[in-house]
Amino acid sequence: MADSKLMTKLNAGLAGGGGSGGRGRAQRRIYLDDAGAAPLLPEVAAALRDLTPANPSSLHQEGRAARAALDRARDIVATQLGADRGEITFTSSGTEAVNLALFGVARRLPKQARILTWAAEHQSVLGPARRLQAEGHSVTIAEVDAAARADPDAITSGIALVSIGLANNEVGTVQPVDEIVRRAHDVGALVHLDACAGPRWIPVPRGPDLISISGQKLGAGAGGMLFVREGVRIDPLLYGGPQEWGRRAGREDVAGAIAVSTALASSGRGREERAVVAAQHAEGLRALLEECGGRLTGAALRLPNYASATFPGRRGEDMLLALDVAGVAASSGSACASGSLDPSHVLLAMGLGMDQALGSLRLTIGYDTTDDDLALARAILSSVLAPTTARA
Ligand SMILES: Cc1ncc(COP(=O)(O)O)c(C=O)c1O
Repeated sequence: MADSKLMTKLNAGLAGGGGSGGRGRAQRRIYLDDAGAAPLLPEVAAALRDLTPANPSSLHQEGRAARAALDRARDIVATQLGADRGEITFTSSGTEAVNLALFGVARRLPKQARILTWAAEHQSVLGPARRLQAEGHSVTIAEVDAAARADPDAITSGIALVSIGLANNEVGTVQPVDEIVRRAHDVGALVHLDACAGPRWIPVPRGPDLISISGQKLGAGAGGMLFVREGVRIDPLLYGGPQEWGRRAGREDVAGAIAVSTALASSGRGREERAVVAAQHAEGLRALLEECGGRLTGAALRLPNYASATFPGRRGEDMLLALDVAGVAASSGSACASGSLDPSHVLLAMGLGMDQALGSLRLTIGYDTTDDDLALARAILSSVLAPTTARA
């Protein structure tokens, strides 16, 4: 299998040296994969420290405390999204939230009602879209432009559900969400916003009817959340008890809810200031990627912490391995796909050839990335990606 071959290669690379760090000395690591998984926020760890595990449906004191903590978490998320408590459903992940939104709405629609999404969306959107198509629903997966931007013109009458991302998770392109919401509502369609990538850096728009959020992308470590506007009815994925307003059966994950709510609230504090600093840093990395022979990817309007490029003739996993051994954690395309040798579906959707789609590199800056980190990362990137050494 391609996956296990790659893991063997990566492990051999790690066992083979650890770069210049030498035996016994911890290597300094520079984490430039914030979009893959944001590091756990200290405020999340602190909020979880005081948690007493109990079932929020239990009537004893511990159970009531768990219920109160869950209610508080729900209120925090609702405030962040300008929503009501009853519109918030906690899930185990972003993927589950997206699945709940898409299957939840689609199963209440007649089969001929059209569902629309775009080809550069995350696998957690495209997977359900293809499954719904296989179940007989009318699904359109529209094309994107060379920067992975969705074209709102794909929204025509007869469409009942539109799913769009807040930003593309591989190249950072911010989608024209407000226009898509307006056009979709004009034809009477519901809009699901996959807001798993982006809320750490840009605000989540208020217009969509369903919004999914991923905890691990926010620095919560785990968990997820789905906003469902009051009056929008969805079928659950899991059947059982009446938890989460009947939208998700099973004992609530209080820890996950606290983590997600704390991280979402943090993402809103100082977001603009952090974005300005990240954009400056990312600009420097983008210039460096270009100097090293990379062709930059993504639109001018993109998440501020992104620097992504393709390197025709090189393999993403080879660059990742070399960077990893030298101390830089980067990503090649989506984290879900970077354990495999498959080309990036996003880059293919953008019209790039196989050669370029196999040679993608994504660097994403985090809240804690320092000037020192970036100076060292630049030196490592220059030496690893310089055309001669990269091909050696
Ligand atoms: C745009 C987007 N949507 C959905 C997901 C799925 O979120 P999770 O990893 O929490 O399941 C991700 C994760 O990579 C993502 O980037």
